[in-house]
Amino acid sequence: MGEKLFRGQILDFLEDPGVTETTLEALRYLEDGALVTGADGCVLEVGPYALFRAKYPGAAVHDYTGRLIMPGFIDTHIHFPQMQIIASYGRQLLDWLTRYTFPAEAQLQNAALAKTLARDFVRELLANGTTTCLAFAAESAVSAEALFEAAIEWNMRMISGKVLMNRNAPAVIKDSAAEAYTESEALIRKWHKRERCLYAITPRFAISCDMEELKMAGRLHAEYPETYIQTHLSENRDEVATTLGLFPGCRDYLEIYEQAGIVKDRSVFAHGIFLSDSELDRLASTGASIAHCPTSNLFLGSGLYDLRRAKTHGVVTSIATDVGAGTSFSLLQTLNEAYKVQQLQGCTLDPLTAFYMITLGAARTLKLEDKIGSLAVGSEADFVVIDYQAQHLQALRMQYLQRTGHWNL
Ligand code: GUN
Ligand code: ZN
Repeated sequence: MGEKLFRGQILDFLEDPGVTETTLEALRYLEDGALVTGADGCVLEVGPYALFRAKYPGAAVHDYTGRLIMPGFIDTHIHFPQMQIIASYGRQLLDWLTRYTFPAEAQLQNAALAKTLARDFVRELLANGTTTCLAFAAESAVSAEALFEAAIEWNMRMISGKVLMNRNAPAVIKDSAAEAYTESEALIRKWHKRERCLYAITPRFAISCDMEELKMAGRLHAEYPETYIQTHLSENRDEVATTLGLFPGCRDYLEIYEQAGIVKDRSVFAHGIFLSDSELDRLASTGASIAHCPTSNLFLGSGLYDLRRAKTHGVVTSIATDVGAGTSFSLLQTLNEAYKVQQLQGCTLDPLTAFYMITLGAARTLKLEDKIGSLAVGSEADFVVIDYQAQHLQALRMQYLQRTGHWNL
């Protein structure tokens, strides 16, 4: 009872295509497949439609023949308040924050506006196939409350937290270490593990947080070790220079976060473009990961992230939109730009690795691979349906692949 059978082409990953003998070993693909879900909202089984139609006679059939069923996409770095300022042009990071970002984030102290925008944000994510995200709210606790509420309304998996910042920002969006602790702890107790919500302790970056604030974040994480930590690291040359000027006792950017106790295996650092070999090695040894945000890096002119170099050092990279420095909610568009960023450095991002990175790969970085990122038995029934005919050009491209036999994997 309550079983549903989704028919279509089914694709998910069993492993990272970069580490298997052949890329095909890394994935499961069924041309005419059935994804069967139970009344508890979890995956019961995936198999051939011809067999499963008879095996699950009571299941309600949802027919997506000719379309692709995949695990929902996972965006590992995005800013909820910044959907309002996408494409605010003409500045690089530090000026962009001052001129566009801080004023937009200040608006989210208004609970009614935060609520409306949170619903728009969640709808926009889902419309783009993103069913899980690791998101910055704004500095106000109400912005985080609004986001979690909206996520629950749509049953989305939302990992988020109020932004911590106690300096170098307008007074209205600054907190103190003590306030930040109290508010964050209250939010953790209320939202962490409620429905599909999880909490991320969210120091903006070292320019916005003094060592007291950063250490508070580390202490809070030690008290609630199942929370996440999200921040920015080494995104822009001026940012790196300013940061090192603020912490003269630290030999590099990462050491600031190390001293604060926030470099953990549940830490996700956005960008990481200008890291030294030593910083990459230290990141790898802790199991912290980098969220690569290509549309943002291109839009702000920050630089080109070297995926291959990070991998050589053993650092795991996921892919993220970083809206609103990033210019699209779509992880497909984001992969498109990630491909070009690697091309400019003489490296090819193959499509299977790319799709792994926004599904199982990202789930693994978030330690959620038992719940999302694949269609394995017992996973949450969290998937998207991609229509190859959605755009005329896409349909033509598909017809070409079918005509030439390049379609078959
Ligand atoms: N560094 C600190 N804050 C931000 C932000 O909001 N966006 C980006 N791209 N980088 C940051
Ligand atoms: Zn960001």
